[in-house]
Amino acid sequence: MTVKLGIIGAGNMGQTHARVLVADKRVQIVGIADLAREKADALAREVNARAFDSFDALLDAGVDAVYVATPNTKHAPAVLAALARNVNVFSEKPMATTFAEAKQIREAARQSKAIYQIGLNRRFSPAYKFVKEKIAEGFKPYLANAKQNDGDWLNPPWITNLELTGGFLQESSVHLLDMLRWLMGEVVAVNARAQSRVYNLPCDFAILMTFEGNRHAVFSSSAHASWAYPFETLEIVGEHACIRTEEMTRAFLSPGLASEMITRDFTQIPRAIQWGYQQENDAFITAIVEGRASACDFEEAYKSIELCEACYRSADNDGATVALPLRQRISNE
Ligand SMILES: NC(=O)c1ccc[n+]([C@@H]2O[C@H](COP(=O)([O-])OP(=O)(O)OC[C@H]3O[C@@H](n4cnc5c(N)ncnc54)[C@H](O)[C@@H]3O)[C@@H](O)[C@H]2O)c1
Repeated sequence: MTVKLGIIGAGNMGQTHARVLVADKRVQIVGIADLAREKADALAREVNARAFDSFDALLDAGVDAVYVATPNTKHAPAVLAALARNVNVFSEKPMATTFAEAKQIREAARQSKAIYQIGLNRRFSPAYKFVKEKIAEGFKPYLANAKQNDGDWLNPPWITNLELTGGFLQESSVHLLDMLRWLMGEVVAVNARAQSRVYNLPCDFAILMTFEGNRHAVFSSSAHASWAYPFETLEIVGEHACIRTEEMTRAFLSPGLASEMITRDFTQIPRAIQWGYQQENDAFITAIVEGRASACDFEEAYKSIELCEACYRSADNDGATVALPLRQRISNE
């Protein structure tokens, strides 16, 4: 089977995915759509596809799957249009910028015959997969300490525009919020504090997460930390054991008292693999070809947005405990 595929959004991530997908023999990139026609033209030329003026025109061209790589608030309309036509969707993160839209997409994905996969790429990166494997092999994740910082919020230019970005948690911190849930288990409560010191939106978060089994993570996330390495770290403490990651370049395991440390170093592997982009694309195309659900599907995507929403609700209420799953309705639902 050849998967006929279109991409909406020919910027940084649209290009990243296109360059991986063009090398996949199971895929034919049919078309590229972007509001900026010259960007669609340039990427279409590079991957031997057609440029389209609109997403509808791209869907009308008869694609089996689409990649949605537009700014955050533009994901939902494209995703919903594709799912309604049973076109398989790979959506860049975040799934949505509001909890209400996340619910809408989850419902549409449940009804659709199409596959939905979210671009939570860290789950596919070798550094975080190493941690997941150690937990599967018996490492007991009792306590986590994580940070995810951005150096600045200057690029791409739309990033501090709330109408396009939705908020810092959905834009950035969602990666590690999801990672902590993936590694530690289901989140049952959060307590969050937020500040808006540098940008015109809450851009510093201090979050306490409680997982099933009464285990905890402390997570901080800032939008203006400079790019001093490492800007993303995770440490999980087990039973006289500890696992640590530095971005997606290194992972360390201290397996026990008086034991040799195990070090994995991914610095030299290509970024598309180091960051999991190649593997997430392979997983999506394989799911389509084999007709099965994605491992990083709409339920997982929904929970990542639910977690962001819980943190915002807690931060809006002086760090009050917000229990998950969220039940109460909110004003924009
Ligand atoms: N998973 C990751 O590691 C990662 C990294 C960066 C960005 N992202 C996500 O990828 C998405 C795109 O980010 P980016 O860095 O590529 O941004 P970008 O600004 O480089 O590209 C976005 C493109 O979308 C186009 N566009 C805007 N509105 C559109 C519309 N309504 N219809 C068609 N095209 C439209 C723009 O012209 C631009 O070319 C964002 O949602 C972002 O959160 C994910």
